[in-house]
Amino acid sequence: MTESSTNQSWGGRFNQPTDAFVQEFTASVQFDQRMYEYDIQGSVAHATMLAKVNVLTMEESTAIIDGLEKVRQEIEAGKFEWLIALEDVHMNIERRLTDMIGDVGKKLHTGRSRNDQVATDIRLYLRDQIDAIQLELERLIRALIDLAEKEADTVMPGFTHLQTAQPVTFGHHMLAWVEMLFRDRERLTDCRKRVNVMPLGAAALAGTSFPIDRNLTAELLSFEGIAENSLDAVSDRDFAIEFNAASALIMTHLSRCSEELVLWCSQQFSFVAIGDAFCTGSSIMPQKKNPDVPELLRGKTGRVNGNLIALLTLMKGQPLAYNKDNQEDKEPLFDSIDTIRGSLKVFADMVPEITVNSDNMREAASKGFATATDLADYLVRKGIAFRDAHEVVGKTVATAEQQGKDIAELSLQELQSFSSVIEEDVYEVLTLEGALAARDHIGGTAPRQVRAAAKRARLRL
Ligand code: ARG
Repeated sequence: MTESSTNQSWGGRFNQPTDAFVQEFTASVQFDQRMYEYDIQGSVAHATMLAKVNVLTMEESTAIIDGLEKVRQEIEAGKFEWLIALEDVHMNIERRLTDMIGDVGKKLHTGRSRNDQVATDIRLYLRDQIDAIQLELERLIRALIDLAEKEADTVMPGFTHLQTAQPVTFGHHMLAWVEMLFRDRERLTDCRKRVNVMPLGAAALAGTSFPIDRNLTAELLSFEGIAENSLDAVSDRDFAIEFNAASALIMTHLSRCSEELVLWCSQQFSFVAIGDAFCTGSSIMPQKKNPDVPELLRGKTGRVNGNLIALLTLMKGQPLAYNKDNQEDKEPLFDSIDTIRGSLKVFADMVPEITVNSDNMREAASKGFATATDLADYLVRKGIAFRDAHEVVGKTVATAEQQGKDIAELSLQELQSFSSVIEEDVYEVLTLEGALAARDHIGGTAPRQVRAAAKRARLRL
């Protein structure tokens, strides 16, 4: 990028050129050039509309549209020279257009302002990004459903307080992750509705004196609606904040899943292994295989949370309508988009490379008195009040623990010493399979329920 003197797009009232550092400091072209495609789309629609309402002649409009197409080709070919002196993507493209097609290029900006233009560009850009993110999210959900189905019978300890609580299946655990991600998908779908509203026509802030047809422009750009109020249209960034909030929750979910993977592939748990392609070694300890991908995903959550706070703070206290502050919306937004897309991609690629160590999970599940609740429920079915049953089982567990046994390993006589209602059939509920199969309702961990839930989840995709 090279520099030039006074910015000719607005230089008319100025006597002195912009300070060189101020020019650099206030420019956004370094980061907003990534929206060039949407800037051109918006301009093509605007020029088409201006001809329809006879603000431009057909020839003028056609010349502008053809010129914009050439600018696009130049950018795509990597031959476009972005100039800091031209401040942003909008003025860079407009200047090049005018260089190419002559003075008629200057007519493109009739009836609009960079204020409604930039708001339109961000929305068009974000709309496409949301669609791409949804595809990655769905690919991840599908991979998790596949894993859940494969491991629908695999028993593992379920935890509360990270202490063994009750047995669950690994498939059930995977479907819990799936539910989080389905909510994320829903949030993005909802956010997209408010992104997909067209600011164009608001011009600088008050609308324009030209007889524009906003409905036509909106239709050409596939917007679902047009912004009702011009002041709001140029100043609103709620949609970007909303997207970032949805992104922060996606990262929060990926971070939680990542933390579990990190725990599970430690030597202490040894529940799963992650494929070599997703791990790294240590330069000093030859035995190490580190779960870098989930660790990094956990870490990247921080920057997306930070971006959310940046955008909220950016908007707080801003008077209507457009303020230059709003230029600061782009870098946090773009960073969140990039982070979310990369994170979802790597997680979706990694899930099929997770292998499950079912023997270790079973062993862990049979160690922590995971079926104690089942014994209590059994006593209740034999007529004992739950609170009393809880007490009985507590004593049973304490005794088993002293003997270094699981409750299922105590003899019938030993069990009967705690409660006379216990009979031979108690062992059916004390096994891990018995405990799993007993939780046989929608949302429960019984393998047949996990299979049914996986099937329903697939239909929701
Ligand atoms: N680069 C600016 C932004 O990102 C474009 C709009 C500038 N408008 C203005 N009146 N300075 O917000």
